[in-house]
Amino acid sequence: DGEVYKYYSDGEWKKSSSNKSVAIINPTTRKTQYKVQACSQEEVNKVMEIAKVAQKSWAKTPLWKRAELLHKAAAILKEHKAPIAECLVKEIAKPAKDAVTEVVRSGDLVSYCAEEGVRILGEGKFLVSDSFPGNERTKYCLTSKIPLGVVLAIPPFNYPVNLAVSKIAPALIAGNSLVLKPPTQGAVSCLHMVHCFHLAGFPKGLISCVTGKGSEIGDFLTMHPGVNCISFTGGDTGISISKKAGMIPLQMELGGKDACIVLEDADLDLVAANIIKGGFSYSGQRCTAVKVVLVIESVADALVEKVKARVAKLSVGPPEDDSDITPVVSESSANFIEGLVLDAKEKGATFCQPYKREGNLIWPLLLDNVRPDMRIAWEEPFGPVLPVIRISSVEEGIHHCNASNFGLQGCVFTRDINKAILIGDAMETGTVQINSAPARGPDHFPFQGIKDSGIGSQGITNSINMMTKVKSTVINLP
Ligand code: G3H
Repeated sequence: DGEVYKYYSDGEWKKSSSNKSVAIINPTTRKTQYKVQACSQEEVNKVMEIAKVAQKSWAKTPLWKRAELLHKAAAILKEHKAPIAECLVKEIAKPAKDAVTEVVRSGDLVSYCAEEGVRILGEGKFLVSDSFPGNERTKYCLTSKIPLGVVLAIPPFNYPVNLAVSKIAPALIAGNSLVLKPPTQGAVSCLHMVHCFHLAGFPKGLISCVTGKGSEIGDFLTMHPGVNCISFTGGDTGISISKKAGMIPLQMELGGKDACIVLEDADLDLVAANIIKGGFSYSGQRCTAVKVVLVIESVADALVEKVKARVAKLSVGPPEDDSDITPVVSESSANFIEGLVLDAKEKGATFCQPYKREGNLIWPLLLDNVRPDMRIAWEEPFGPVLPVIRISSVEEGIHHCNASNFGLQGCVFTRDINKAILIGDAMETGTVQINSAPARGPDHFPFQGIKDSGIGSQGITNSINMMTKVKSTVINLP
């Protein structure tokens, strides 16, 4: 009906003076579902200016009051779970139940963050000088954690609400102000979530949300001199942001190719269940999805049979019906996935199901006998297509895992805990899960990737610490 969602600046909902909008295409209908403002660079400048001013007084607001407001926002967010989840269904085709879970998880994250912030920011250190050679006990050093300033948060389409609040809440509890640039798909869900923070009564200008085209405001935001920290989750864009950003702390999470190594003694039913959950939930559009199965040849036939039987039970259809497999986020994403599938076909992979696609909806597909010369052995489909590589030794599996340019998570299945620990240690990833599929949560666990998977560590505690710096005051005694 031509209505364009407003952006949020200075505690108000505003129309962009650009008079331009960005369309959000519903992945299921492939028609325009919503429109958001295409903010201009001048509007970004204004938001940055306001954020800088608002941060100064926010940093002086008592910690317990900051926590109180966050608890309030968390409660409002949970109260509004239904309309926000509905947007997630329409914008990113997340299955209805998972969409509700995302919002509830987000509320819990905000509350936990408020509590954790009160604890860890409520204490500092006291050091004395005479522990270092040559010093008398004449200096007392007091340290505390102070905010960085303005934090820029850029979440991805797959968790627009949850991966926004996982940046917003730590930034705010630590005394920073926050500028949010939502992904295009998921922008309206983000605006609704921001409205919950608005209703909670945060000071004007402390939180802003600018929507628009990456080509117009993307680099402008990330290279803006007013930004003191960037927390980004997404794809390759993160690599270019890290090259262009100034001398500021960066928190980046850029995807993965999480390997699932299966030993001959593994409980194959448990493995199959985890491959389904890990590889196909939200149609494989999770950075922590299982993206390659590396199974010892002697149990490969049995495992593939078990996974095949479970794939056959997955429901395929629209997110409104709470289908297991829903349309992938965009046509270009579906085309990319198809490219990987066709390459695997040409090079002789075994198709456990026929390849089927309608619009952006791709039926779940298990590809057996994948070899290292196939693109799918290395690239991240971000879709419901999972390659199986048969290996003759554990070393071969570890080697494949470590040869990847990614290093987010990985998992190993075996009943032998000693082997599991040794394999886990040998896998060059930020996290290794023993006998379960990779996952970020629970959200207070550290979450990090190495190599092209990211910079820094997330999780509630680490994010709070990352969004602060240490300030020392030294008392010099006569
Ligand atoms: O897509 C990236 C997310 O950080 C993964 O989170 O493991 O909870 O799905 P998840």
